[in-house]
Amino acid sequence: MERLQKVIAHAGIASRRKAEEYIVKGRVKVNGKVIRELGTQVGKSDLVEVDDVPIYKEEYGYYLFYKPKGVISAVSDNKGRKVVTDYFTHIKERIYPVGRLDYDTSGLLLLTNDGEFSQRLTHPSHEVDKVYVAKVKGLAKKHDFLPLTKGIKIDGYKTAPAAFQIISVDLKTNTSIVELTIHEGRNHQVKNMLQSVGYPVQKLKREKYGDLTLKGLRPGEYRSLNKKEISVLMNQSK
Ligand code: URA
Repeated sequence: MERLQKVIAHAGIASRRKAEEYIVKGRVKVNGKVIRELGTQVGKSDLVEVDDVPIYKEEYGYYLFYKPKGVISAVSDNKGRKVVTDYFTHIKERIYPVGRLDYDTSGLLLLTNDGEFSQRLTHPSHEVDKVYVAKVKGLAKKHDFLPLTKGIKIDGYKTAPAAFQIISVDLKTNTSIVELTIHEGRNHQVKNMLQSVGYPVQKLKREKYGDLTLKGLRPGEYRSLNKKEISVLMNQSK
């Protein structure tokens, strides 16, 4: 069961607020009866009409995608570049990415058409750990990264404490591989954090999102989330 305004908004007819307006004004019928109460619960078998036109109820879809680098985290691009939804040619739902990864970042990206799911996951209070692996310039020294575990100032805000691990250093190429775990999701956050402690990022990949990993997927491939994975993610938000 779902709230009537959500069902209308999800059908793409109106925003949630507009949908509420339609309900209050008596423009919405459920099973032939005008319903003016906000928050009325409707189920899959209920017939919902707006201005006597039945709405089309789209199924929800939740996908875990291995985003390749060189792809925009969007549903369209005015410069004609490849976008993540170009990889989803065989699905009916009109999905969009939950948050985003930079054009040159690869890794785990979730996509859905469930606005509430997406809003919850991208809300700052949603404290799901995301694990990134970065190739950085320079030979990583542990003490340089310690400030990240307390939080550092970037563009006027303080980052939440992060965890890091130095995976390897390569003397020949003067680069290192560093793993960083954060639960925030500001623009270019990992790149900015590592740059701030003196290690510019050359390559970035998101390996984990909560308990979810890229296991079994190659770049450009995706799979559906199962019910348990969806509910775990929903319940991780405050
Ligand atoms: N942090 C970044 O800097 N870039 C990403 O794509 C994701 C996190």
